[in-house]
Amino acid sequence: MPASPVAAPFSQHLTDRTVLIFGGTSGIGLSAAIQAKAAGAKVIVVGFDADRARLAAVEHGFENWRAADVTRPETIAPALADIAHVDHLVLLAGSFVAGSILDAEIDHLRRAFEERIWAAVHTIRALGDRLARDGSITFISGVLADRPAPQGTAVLAAASAAMEAFARALALELAPRRVNTLSPGTTDTPLLARTLGANRDAYVAALTGKLPLGRLGTAEQAGAAVVFLMSNGFMNGETLHIDGGQRLV
Ligand SMILES: NC(=O)c1ccc[n+]([C@@H]2O[C@H](COP(=O)([O-])OP(=O)(O)OC[C@H]3O[C@@H](n4cnc5c(N)ncnc54)[C@H](OP(=O)(O)O)[C@@H]3O)[C@@H](O)[C@H]2O)c1
Repeated sequence: MPASPVAAPFSQHLTDRTVLIFGGTSGIGLSAAIQAKAAGAKVIVVGFDADRARLAAVEHGFENWRAADVTRPETIAPALADIAHVDHLVLLAGSFVAGSILDAEIDHLRRAFEERIWAAVHTIRALGDRLARDGSITFISGVLADRPAPQGTAVLAAASAAMEAFARALALELAPRRVNTLSPGTTDTPLLARTLGANRDAYVAALTGKLPLGRLGTAEQAGAAVVFLMSNGFMNGETLHIDGGQRLV
C-alpha cells in the first residue's frame, strides 16, 4: 500500500526560530518583535539609534540588538556579521519621506527608495546563505501604494509600490524562501508625531473622520499581521493590506 502523503504543517511555528527585524525598536516593528518573542522566537532587533535598540532589547527580553543605518550599506554587513543564521527577516525600517516633486531636494526624495528597495537589496545580500531556505522575508509598503495623496508623497508611493513588485519577483528568485509585503494604513506609532509634530492630533482627527472604521490601526494589529506573514507557511508573493478599509475611501 502506498505511504500516505505527509501533511504540510498548517503553520511554521516560531519556537526557537531566529527572527531579525529591521525597524524592530519602535512602532510596528517593535510590536512584531514582542509578538514573535511571545510565540517562542529568538528575536534580534535592528534600529538606527543604538541606545533605543539596546533599551528595547533589554526591556522586552529580546535575544539581541544591533544598530545600523539602512541607507548606508557599509553599516549593514558589519551589524550582521556575527549572526549565524536567520529564519525570518523583516524589513520595516524607514521614515515618512515627503516633498514636492518640483522643488524638494533630490537626495531627500531618493531616500524613499534608499530606505526600502536598496536597503532590502543590501540586507539580503549581506545575509546571503545565512537566510534559511524554509524561512521568509517580509517587506513594508503602505496605503499610499494604492491610494496616493496630493501632498508631496508621490516618490514614497512609488517606493512603496515597488516593494510589493520586488517581493513578488523575489518570491521566485529566492524560492523556496517566502517573500511577502505588509501594506498598513495610517497606523498609530511614534512615526506620526515624528513626522507631523504639533499637527499630529489635527491630522489624525481629520483623517479618522473619513475612515470607514473611524480610527487608526494600532502597532499591535500591524505587528500581528507581520507575525502571520512569517509564520503561515503558504503565504508567498503576497501583499497583505491591514488598513481598516482606508484604501477604499
Ligand atoms: N505608521 C504608519 O502610519 C505607516 C503606514 C504605512 C507604512 N509605514 C511604514 O512602516 C515602517 C515602520 O513604521 P512605524 O510607524 O512603525 O515607524 P516608527 O515607530 O518610526 O519606527 C521606525 C523604525 O525604523 C527604524 N529606522 C528608521 N530609519 C532607519 C534607518 N535609516 N536605519 C535603520 N533603522 C531605521 C527606527 O529606528 P530608530 O527609532 O532608532 O530611528 C525604528 O525602529 C516604516 O517603513 C513606515 O514608512 C508606516
